[in-house]
Amino acid sequence: MANISIFGLGYVGAVSAAALADNGHRVIGVDVNPTKVEMINAGRSPIIEAGLPELMQKGAEAGRICATVDSYQAVFDTDLSIICVGTPSHANGSLNLSYVQRVCQQIGAALADKSAYHVVIARSTMLPGSTEELVIPILEETSGKQAGRDFGVCFNPEFLREGSSIKDFYDPPFTVIGSDDERAAAVASELYAMLDAPLLTVPLKTAEMVKYACNAFHALKVTFANEIGNICKQQNIDSHQVMDIFCQDTKLNISPYYLKPGFAFGGSCLPKDLRALLYHARQLDQEPPVLQAVLRSNRQQVDKAYQLIRRTRHKRVGVLGFSFKAGTDDLRESPMVELVERLIGKGYQLRVYDRNVSLANLQGANRAYIEKEIPHIASLMCDSVEDVLADCEVVVVGNGAPEFRQVLDQVRPEQIVIDLIRISDETGHLNGHYNGICW
Ligand SMILES: NC(=O)c1ccc[n+]([C@@H]2O[C@H](COP(=O)([O-])OP(=O)(O)OC[C@H]3O[C@@H](n4cnc5c(N)ncnc54)[C@H](O)[C@@H]3O)[C@@H](O)[C@H]2O)c1
Repeated sequence: MANISIFGLGYVGAVSAAALADNGHRVIGVDVNPTKVEMINAGRSPIIEAGLPELMQKGAEAGRICATVDSYQAVFDTDLSIICVGTPSHANGSLNLSYVQRVCQQIGAALADKSAYHVVIARSTMLPGSTEELVIPILEETSGKQAGRDFGVCFNPEFLREGSSIKDFYDPPFTVIGSDDERAAAVASELYAMLDAPLLTVPLKTAEMVKYACNAFHALKVTFANEIGNICKQQNIDSHQVMDIFCQDTKLNISPYYLKPGFAFGGSCLPKDLRALLYHARQLDQEPPVLQAVLRSNRQQVDKAYQLIRRTRHKRVGVLGFSFKAGTDDLRESPMVELVERLIGKGYQLRVYDRNVSLANLQGANRAYIEKEIPHIASLMCDSVEDVLADCEVVVVGNGAPEFRQVLDQVRPEQIVIDLIRISDETGHLNGHYNGICW
């Protein structure tokens, strides 16, 4: 069992303190607010939270939890310190890290005089890079010691929700430990050994970013549901029934599907249906800002791909994958068609290959679409990946057809591959000659 100091006894700190004490650890809470310190020492909860008063009282009675304003002594008396101070917004929206900064100075001052190994775990929500660029430098400067050698540092994001935070502490979706230091990560992981949840050890910045991705998505979900609800209400449709059914689709809706960073969406349904819904909303005097922004964001992703190609300063471009996804010949509203059109317009020389797209076989609206968009498309089409690779300086992988997975082994050293799909999960491959659109 560990001796733990917890800095900041607000929602996160108080819940962590009580739950860790309940698990047999000895916890010293540290706060600048003497009232909170007195309350904890009296076995009372400094915040209103279901289940917390009972846990606090139990911890205090067992002698496993106490609090102090003395940060120096708290570091000395413990093996690890968890930072849970607030990280509010400045008036302009930027992150105010002054409390984290102050706590790091206090912990560092104590570490300067402490010879035993100590681990500092940051739990406060901080933007990617904060641990490396702020927490570690301040700890090193004030302690005169070196992170990774004399003391350890981790980032461990917190996913609790106020109101159900005790339950969330014991039943998290996962535990994320961000660390570039194995020894420190092992100490942090040990704290959560009793939880029945996946433990994910990742680089520091990844852990910091996961927290922002989660909260941004939660916010997006709320506004999405509200915008759908506002449209429903105008027509006496029960939005809760709509969203209940929506959530029952765990294949496409509540699932990893459509959540892989990559190229723009397209095809014959998503853009068309979104446009129709937006038009319909306007007729109902509704302005759904999130839904309105979706097509703009999608266009921006096509522009991102174009800029990646432009920056290579090469003009001979091979395109692998032309339809909006592998395994279909549907070209309607394929963002690749849009990209190809734009490249042609800018004077690029193109070679295009897609096993599923044979002009001879294209029919109906699909054929009419491509003939209208790119009239001389036939002259650009190749019969194989090899034909494309033989004659280009830049290769753009536009959909996830299995035959494109080997492209990295097939290209010549001077050729540049721009991957819009992520044909390789080995991000170590990424270099000046292999670039992913958003990874
Ligand atoms: N509240 C939540 O539901 C929640 C959930 C997940 C993550 N977080 C993140 O966790 C962090 C803490 O959030 P919170 O809601 O618990 O904050 P809070 O404002 O409730 O508590 C912060 C505490 O830190 C104390 N403090 C400030 N400076 C200090 C210092 N130098 N030494 C010791 N104590 C000091 C304050 O007095 C206060 O009691 C934030 O980064 C927040 O974004 C919060």
